Amino acid sequence: MSNNITWHETSITKFERRQKNGYHSFVIWLTGLSGSGKSTIANALARKLFDENIHSYVLDGDNVRHGLNKDLGFSEEDRNENIRRIGEVAKLFVDSGQVVLTAFISPFRKDREVVRNLLEENEFIEVYVKCSLKSCEKRDPKGLYKKARKGEIKQFTGIDSPYEEPLNPEIVVDTEALSVEESVEEIYRYLKENHYIH
Ligand code: PPS
Repeated sequence: MSNNITWHETSITKFERRQKNGYHSFVIWLTGLSGSGKSTIANALARKLFDENIHSYVLDGDNVRHGLNKDLGFSEEDRNENIRRIGEVAKLFVDSGQVVLTAFISPFRKDREVVRNLLEENEFIEVYVKCSLKSCEKRDPKGLYKKARKGEIKQFTGIDSPYEEPLNPEIVVDTEALSVEESVEEIYRYLKENHYIH
């Protein structure tokens, strides 16, 4: 960090924003292999929340890599930096009183812990979007596994780059067993039961 920079308190606090909104602000952090269903679930949940007047925003791996993180690739170092920046952006969204839904592979436990620790205790909900490599590869919605198997994409998660399963996620949705609607319902129920939303 540079010298000579000072933190400014904002005139409107996170707590005031939450009070006015009538709901909490927090991050729903979806992690899982490519093709496991992270983006689909995030967008379906965002729609459900939107219909209930809860403001949320989806941050998605492919999209964020078109702009903010377009300088990053898929080495371990770049993935660390990808998740670090997303964590900081998510924190700003939480400060602004919004619900953030993130859909990043975020393959490393340590990176996900960094984001958890950046936020307060009741601001980070880790959701493991569980789907076996076999099934993700069978789905292959973007044809990326096929390319990775042919060696046309290097460092592809699950093929020649690791994915570390969460050890203690708040929620697990098994997308081989559940429909998109059922996965959304699981997360929604958790939010209600734990008083994140009313
Ligand atoms: S990470 O690991 O969290 O930094 O990745 P993320 O920012 O979520 O980006 C994953 C999407 O990028 C596409 N893609 C790759 N994924 C994994 N490994 C490699 N090498 C790779 N190259 C491109 C892919 O479309 C991922 O999107 P999802 O939605 O996960 O399928």
